Amino acid sequence: MNKADTSTSTVVIAIDGPAASGKSTVARALAARLGYRFLNSGDLYRAITWGCLSHGVDCREAGAIAMAVGNSRVELGCDGTEYYPIVDGTDPRVHLRDAAVNANVSPVSAVPAVRYILSAVIRAQAQGRQMVVEGRDIGSAVFPETPYKFYIDAPVQVRQRRRRNQGQTEEIAQRDLIDSTRSTDPLTIASGATVIDSSSLDVAGVVNAMLEKLREHGLLGGIGILPMVPGSNRQDADAT
Ligand code: CDP
Repeated sequence: MNKADTSTSTVVIAIDGPAASGKSTVARALAARLGYRFLNSGDLYRAITWGCLSHGVDCREAGAIAMAVGNSRVELGCDGTEYYPIVDGTDPRVHLRDAAVNANVSPVSAVPAVRYILSAVIRAQAQGRQMVVEGRDIGSAVFPETPYKFYIDAPVQVRQRRRRNQGQTEEIAQRDLIDSTRSTDPLTIASGATVIDSSSLDVAGVVNAMLEKLREHGLLGGIGILPMVPGSNRQDADAT
């Protein structure tokens, strides 16, 4: 991974954190300011979970999950500057926040074969591109070599409130527990990651803190920073 910023080298900014910590919102805003592409890896895990559920796979059976995912075709489409998952030729975006997907995504994501396959899809997509990638293991396992790593956090009560404000009743603590205790690539603060608590900062505040860190790392030398997109500074309203 090249530390210098040129338009042809691979540059990955890794953003990890627990559920509803605000990482999708800030990752998208950061990508927009840098003119980078944005990939939400959680959407890939959700899409695969939806695929398993729609084929009637028992999501408590690791072997059945591994076989189903191994037989699926997982691709990424791109909408403007944002990637989205495609499973066996179908765009499942409307289903990604279904209650059944929320309930099963963490057990499905804990299956090592699933992680192996999706990590390979993400790495292949990043080749030769400049991307902001967010998830649980991006800085620790998918791109451990990137110098640009962030961990966005907030107390569980703040994160649960954000989910309720989005109209979702899901208890995120259970998902956090499975994600951080699984044996393969658990949610963790990657070595060298900058930890940012998003509970007392708005989106612009988090993004500015990240830009400052990236500047310290020498990433922003040759590139212009675009202004915040109007309306993208609503942390509590839409943070995920
Ligand atoms: O939006 P939220 O923060 O609730 O979750 P998400 O980013 O959509 O991720 C959904 C689930 O996918 C997580 O709870 C993890 O179980 C899994 N995931 C993962 O294992 N590894 C990633 N890199 C991203 C997500």
